[in-house]
Amino acid sequence: AKPVITVVGSINMDLVTIASRFPSQGETILGEEFHLIPGGKGANQAVAAARLGADVHMIGAVGKDAFGTELLRSLEREGVHIDNVKPVTDKGTGIASITISEQDNRIIVVPGANHALRPEDIDRCEEMIAKSDVCVLQLEIPLSVVERAAFLAKKHGVRVILNPAPAQPLPQKLIEQVDFLTPNEHERDIIFEQVDADAFADKVIVTEGARGVTIRKDGKQMLIPGFRVPVVDTTGAGDTFNGALAVALSKGMSLEEACLFANAAAALSVTKLGAQGGMPMKEEVERFLKENAE
Ligand code: RIB
Ligand code: NA
Repeated sequence: AKPVITVVGSINMDLVTIASRFPSQGETILGEEFHLIPGGKGANQAVAAARLGADVHMIGAVGKDAFGTELLRSLEREGVHIDNVKPVTDKGTGIASITISEQDNRIIVVPGANHALRPEDIDRCEEMIAKSDVCVLQLEIPLSVVERAAFLAKKHGVRVILNPAPAQPLPQKLIEQVDFLTPNEHERDIIFEQVDADAFADKVIVTEGARGVTIRKDGKQMLIPGFRVPVVDTTGAGDTFNGALAVALSKGMSLEEACLFANAAAALSVTKLGAQGGMPMKEEVERFLKENAE
């Protein structure tokens, strides 16, 4: 059977500008390209999981505007169920202003409708959450919503992956309710500001870009190596990792195997422009893993 995955999170339109460098303060420069590309950490993780063969249900919110309409269409095309994406009238669809230059990427997210999601919206989806294999969360929606989703998933014995991005200090209760946290090194320091990180080390998967990810196994740190690929755009690599991790864990892979599978998916994703561009299908990941096996 297909893994059933519920993603609770953001849906953004990414406004992507490609320039040779960043302008300095007060300066205007000419850029090279501009693209409108579907994004948002929640939607990205949902699409990653759907392409890898999962039955994905998205819970989120968009504005009643052109971006909202376009993003819902795009999720539908990807086979993601959108019945629980709420249209809101008083806020615009979330956007991310992304600048890509040769040196690095810079992103400003304006949450808009994503912040109109409420804990009650999650309550309405309790049945769906209960029948999921994994519930996937991030931090581009109100924390109260993330907490409610984690609570309901836990109540029904559903595994929870929380990708704590963008990072904020997390309450201990929430950390207790999730099975896996997937911060990068910087995010890890922030989320554990008020909580003893050592007590939860077994549920933390630290993502380290092309290097891979670090997990703790039998009390020891263990690196699950990443893959070397030609990089076009690293936006959404973390999202691909999280969506793929959810699928792999649903299929009963061990944490080690699941991280390797997710590393391969993330590597393939950075070879194309856009957060969702390059996100692979299941067969592509399997082929890539075979080709890159030592
Ligand atoms: O993780 C990448 C995503 O972060 C982008 O798609 C952008 O929308 C921001 O939410
Ligand atoms: Na990409």
